[in-house]
Amino acid sequence: METKLVIEKLNGLLEEELASIVRYLHHSFLVFGPMRIPVMELFRKRAKDATTHAVLVGEKITALGGHPTVKISEVLEPGKQTIEEMLKEDLEAEKDMIIRYKKFLPLVEEDVALHFLLCQIVEEEQLHIEDLEKLLRKE
Ligand SMILES: [Fe+2]
Ligand SMILES: [Fe+2]
Repeated sequence: METKLVIEKLNGLLEEELASIVRYLHHSFLVFGPMRIPVMELFRKRAKDATTHAVLVGEKITALGGHPTVKISEVLEPGKQTIEEMLKEDLEAEKDMIIRYKKFLPLVEEDVALHFLLCQIVEEEQLHIEDLEKLLRKE
């Protein structure tokens, strides 16, 4: 795959990760009730995970001679939400994210290091998804 195109795709992923940081931080400010502490801490932790991913992707962009974006993907702002509604929104966003990473994987197979880096991120996104599904599970 052409380097220019790889950089473009990585910038798309960076936009998503930056949006993820904003979304999780926003959610972390809006947790009320008896479950506030653990849920708020989970959201903060996820914001940090998204920061880690953004750093990995951003550094790769400059390593390839590209320029990292300052744009961020759209973050929903539905106003007041319950914890469950926020978790559902996060689950959908995580699912979109993993699809983007997975679509990218076969295109960079020849770059073993980049491929491995993306696989590691995919594994973490998968854990985020499974965790959110368990948090939303009723029985
Ligand atoms: Fe991520
Ligand atoms: Fe994630």
